Amino acid sequence: MINTVYSNIFSDNEIILINNIINKELGRRVIVEDESFVNSTEHNYIIKSLNGRMMLEHLPMPLNIFEKVKNIVGSEYRGLGSVYTEYDPKHNGNPSLNMHYDRFNDNLCFDYQLDSSTVWPIKIEDKEFILNNNEGITFMTKSQYHGRPEKIFKDGEYVKMLFFFFEKVSNE
Ligand SMILES: [Fe+2]
Repeated sequence: MINTVYSNIFSDNEIILINNIINKELGRRVIVEDESFVNSTEHNYIIKSLNGRMMLEHLPMPLNIFEKVKNIVGSEYRGLGSVYTEYDPKHNGNPSLNMHYDRFNDNLCFDYQLDSSTVWPIKIEDKEFILNNNEGITFMTKSQYHGRPEKIFKDGEYVKMLFFFFEKVSNE
């Protein structure tokens, strides 16, 4: 069901595996700290770091990790890919995520909280959700208005998220 919070998503070992993948990608990619990444076609090779947000797109994710999330969202969905995002003022600014609709397709996003040292609710339409670590929530990226309330992050405050994207498998 959309906008449901799920708990205890991954095992300790799976979380270690995910962190290893993230660290490996951080080690091999080039950091881009200005708007030039907007027009980049090198999404596999760069770390986007601007406005309090650091992002790794096209994160290589083991099948068993993706399958676990797929089992939660349901067999009518097909996995598209995953993105890692870190909100932290050390990434060139105070994090903010104004309410918005995503462009392009109305995919389902499984918004997973890998780690955080602070509370920053997720707003979907007019409802606020607070995730704990190792919890996730589903929402539709284009048809549901989503974002986060304004918050001034202090040094040491961060929120680390993984986004798993899915599209509906058509019956035709
Ligand atoms: Fe969005």
